[in-house]
Amino acid sequence: MKRVITYGTFDLLHYGHINLLKRAKALGDYLIVGLSSDEFNEMKNKKSYYTYEQRKIILEACRYVDWVIPECNWEQKINDIQKYKADIFVMGDDWKGKFDFLKDYCEVIYLPRTPEVSSSRTKKYLEKKLAS
Ligand code: CTP
Repeated sequence: MKRVITYGTFDLLHYGHINLLKRAKALGDYLIVGLSSDEFNEMKNKKSYYTYEQRKIILEACRYVDWVIPECNWEQKINDIQKYKADIFVMGDDWKGKFDFLKDYCEVIYLPRTPEVSSSRTKKYLEKKLAS
């Protein structure tokens, strides 16, 4: 069984996320998603609209996702890959090159990002709408 692992905040789940998750799952048999905890988001100066628990409920309802684990710091990826025996690490290509150091532990694949959609873009749009 081939295991794939990917990471992200996945706030306000949108079709760009689904495209990524669908292609990630198609690379293997089992997809693990490392979901940014609220504390980790804070460390990155990011604030999600939905809490970790709410984002987890939504992700778990996605047919391509087999298991959601918390991502609590930048350093845990090597440990996760080893502990969960991941064969492939996947991220969108906005992260291209950033995780090449994981090639010592598994295959690293960057998938093309879906254009013109992101959680922050949706948030900005809604903020603007509410302010007008
Ligand atoms: N992703 C993608 N296409 C998009 C948006 C995201 O393929 N249009 C991918 C990212 O490359 C990443 C995963 O989905 O591998 C989770 O990304 P995340 O940062 O949670 O989503 P964004 O919508 O980019 O959120 P933000 O705008 O807050 O950065």
